Amino acid sequence: MKDSTPTGLILVVDDTPANLTVMSEALTDAGYDVAAALSGDRALKQIQHRLPDLILLDIQMPGIDGFETCCQLKANPDAADIPVIFMTALSDAASKVKAFDLGAVDYVTKPFQEAEVLARVSTHLKLRQLTQSLEQQVAARTQELTNTLETLKQSQLQLIQQEKFSALGGLVAGVAHEINNPLGFIAGNLDPAQNYVQDILELLARYQQHFPDPGDDIGDYIEEVDLEYIREDLPKLLVSMREGTNRIRAISRSLRSFSHADGDRKMPYDLRDGMESTLMILKHRLKATEDRPKIQVMKAYNFNREVECFPSQINQVFMNLLANAIDALEDDNQGRSFEEIEAQPNQIFISTELSADQQSVVIRIGDNGTGMPAAIQAQIFDHFTTKPLGKGTGLGLSISHQIVVKNHQGTIEVHSELNQGTKFEIRLPLMAP
Ligand SMILES: Nc1ncnc2c1ncn2[C@@H]1O[C@H](COP(=O)(O)OP(=O)(O)O)[C@@H](O)[C@H]1O
Ligand SMILES: [Mg+2]
Repeated sequence: MKDSTPTGLILVVDDTPANLTVMSEALTDAGYDVAAALSGDRALKQIQHRLPDLILLDIQMPGIDGFETCCQLKANPDAADIPVIFMTALSDAASKVKAFDLGAVDYVTKPFQEAEVLARVSTHLKLRQLTQSLEQQVAARTQELTNTLETLKQSQLQLIQQEKFSALGGLVAGVAHEINNPLGFIAGNLDPAQNYVQDILELLARYQQHFPDPGDDIGDYIEEVDLEYIREDLPKLLVSMREGTNRIRAISRSLRSFSHADGDRKMPYDLRDGMESTLMILKHRLKATEDRPKIQVMKAYNFNREVECFPSQINQVFMNLLANAIDALEDDNQGRSFEEIEAQPNQIFISTELSADQQSVVIRIGDNGTGMPAAIQAQIFDHFTTKPLGKGTGLGLSISHQIVVKNHQGTIEVHSELNQGTKFEIRLPLMAP
């Protein structure tokens, strides 16, 4: 420190005015601000108005003595860490020990050696300043560490998610690809098979016309296999096989769209494709069960341009939100009969639109399920779940938040009312900011 002029407010407490004067003058001359008190009580009152940086405290005083004053100071959280130096005529060791026990930092004996008092005061003031700046540094470091830890947790989450996703995505895309090949044979052979069947049936018909009486052996066999039925059923069978291959093809297309292999750059993607393929994957959870009719999905796609994004991440968000909506609907169905649910059906609302300022696309996913109270809404984006162990991980929304906010510079908001339903609103900027 270059500036060696001492600073700080020193409170001197002594019942002898002469002592007060001597001490005050010495301190003032040395450059300190000085406050004086003639009793312990007054000292305690004064510190309520202004906290000194150091207190010089006489031990023997009428009323509450120095020890008691010190005790009360230490009990006051605002004053507890102000250094106290006792001034004492006592030279017995017991008093000194007691002084230190009470939290004093030092003592000076009367009659005063001015230089010694000033040296001790200056040392303790410096110590206090050092302690304070150390405490500030520790607080700042702790904050830094807390922030780092938070960042670390976030990136860990992202890593897990990416890892899981790329592994799963690769697998799914691979399987979808593998399925497409044999599916191609089946679909490709269905047309000729249908023609062959038509030809054979026609041939049979002609045989029967030319040889109405084929003999017992063949006649019995025709009855045994129920030729009439085969004739009727075979073409239907082929039609349903075609229907089946069409569906497998759609599923495989969805799987591939859903698990889009995102590179490290965003790419143009039709959100409608993403939503539809996610719904396809969730189809088994939407359809009717013994306990409830199928969940109605109301869609309003009003934004049909492509959006620059990481498709598989966005699909992951859709998946999380839709799965949560289905969970909330199922929860809401507890205790309601099939008929009751039919009268007030489970619904999921999906919409996309251009934002009013035309800068982003707004995607809404809502449900008329349980809804949630404000206290839960406040926590849902932090690793939090209300679902039983094994059912909920509490990761869905925190990952979704990260994907939308961190990876896409968008926003995600929740609007929910207990027993009414929940709506999530996502905004993705159309231009990178
Ligand atoms: N659509 C919704 N309706 C009601 N509550 C919801 C809805 N979506 C999310 N929540 C609440 O937010 C919590 C966190 O969701 P999420 O992060 O996906 O974790 P998880 O589904 O594993 O519990 C859920 O446990 C639930 O309490
Ligand atoms: Mg979830």
